[in-house]
Amino acid sequence: MNILLLGSGGREHALAWKIAASPLLTKLWCAPGNAGIAREAECVALDVGNHAAVIDFCKANAVDLVVVGPETPLAAGIVDDLAAAGIKAFGPAKKAAQLEGSKGFTKDLCSEFNIPTGAYRRFDNAKDALAYVRAQGAPIVVKADGLAAGKGVVVAMTLKQAEDAVAMMFEGAFGAAGAEVVIEEFLSGREISFFALCDGETAIALASAQDHKRVFDHDEGPNTGGMGAYSPTPFVTPEVHDQIMARIILPTVAGMKARGTPFQGVLYAGVMLTAQGPKLFEYNVRFGDPECQVLMLRMMSDIVPAFLAACDGQLKNFDLRWYPDAAVTVVMAAKGYPGDYRKGSRIEGLDEAAKVDGVEIFHAGTAAKDGAILANGGRVLNVCALGRTVTEAQARAYQAVDRIEWPDGFCRRDIAWQAVEAEKGR
Ligand code: AMP
Ligand code: GLY
Repeated sequence: MNILLLGSGGREHALAWKIAASPLLTKLWCAPGNAGIAREAECVALDVGNHAAVIDFCKANAVDLVVVGPETPLAAGIVDDLAAAGIKAFGPAKKAAQLEGSKGFTKDLCSEFNIPTGAYRRFDNAKDALAYVRAQGAPIVVKADGLAAGKGVVVAMTLKQAEDAVAMMFEGAFGAAGAEVVIEEFLSGREISFFALCDGETAIALASAQDHKRVFDHDEGPNTGGMGAYSPTPFVTPEVHDQIMARIILPTVAGMKARGTPFQGVLYAGVMLTAQGPKLFEYNVRFGDPECQVLMLRMMSDIVPAFLAACDGQLKNFDLRWYPDAAVTVVMAAKGYPGDYRKGSRIEGLDEAAKVDGVEIFHAGTAAKDGAILANGGRVLNVCALGRTVTEAQARAYQAVDRIEWPDGFCRRDIAWQAVEAEKGR
């Protein structure tokens, strides 16, 4: 098969690595890709926002399947446009991608299909939103409705913070994404992520994986796209797993089908384990980054038939197998991230780092120049490792990190600490 992968981050490097291992693969391209992805795929300088150009490329190269990594092209309807041109693509159609593209859409779906979530209201003006916030009091959560690169959520612990968030969003801090605002009940409990592969009708859960959103150790500092991840997580017990499937994932898939907008792709649920049971606080419509990296390391099955089964509505008869080993990924980012950072610094020692047992290094934001690897983004490298336990995987990942010479980079030193603590207690 000829496959085209869209995206350029660590998630896409992990996907490229896994797709490249499939005996079904003839040729893999990635647009636009990065210096690490270039080891697995031929990188092509296609503008992913130009759907006609992507379609032309697929036709000219007899592409059998397109795999879409990030949410932006999904929300822009690339899967619909590819389908209209007769090209199979893994990922949700535009209407189904609203599960991530509009927080209000997801809240309304939850209320229509009785999916447990926090109480909420949708607003299109600051005056009514402020009145509601004042009536509810803090803590409360203020969310820009649309895609805001992970920055559109303010968990306000005081009324003042909530009022400021409402004002900021309606003043255009997130552009059109904040023209509508959702105000949501603050949910307290342990936050977990849950991933399921969906074919429009059926869903099968992926292995559990958890990221670390804050930039510094001990979960301090601002939110990021994710500074590391581990799999499996001790907090998704079989009971929690079954509750999330039965009360959240399957009703969502059934609801989307009933509405005539079936969801096909990876559904990524942000779930709070509250005293009243699991409650959904958000959906994403793609693999998490960096959660995908640990999932790909642990997936034993060939991923290409899984993508095809999801596209063809055949997951009912499908099964995914996983290695029992644990996986950890540590994100190395450019100093300054998630704020301003420099591009272009030189990274050395990658080959030595990759020699550590069980280690695999995925590139998230790199470029190659004259044989050297240069930093080319905020999140730059994903140093991943497998081990018999999370503790062993973590030790191997940091051993590899310590072999990388990159003075302009930094990482958290405590990735997977929750699972390591849980293993100590065993
Ligand atoms: P997001 O940018 O949508 O991933 O949300 C950022 C973070 O806000 C999440 O990871 C949660 O920790 C938190 N969050 C979102 N909604 C709620 C809620 N209703 N209650 C408490 N925390 C929330
Ligand atoms: N790791 C969080 C995300 O992919 O949105």
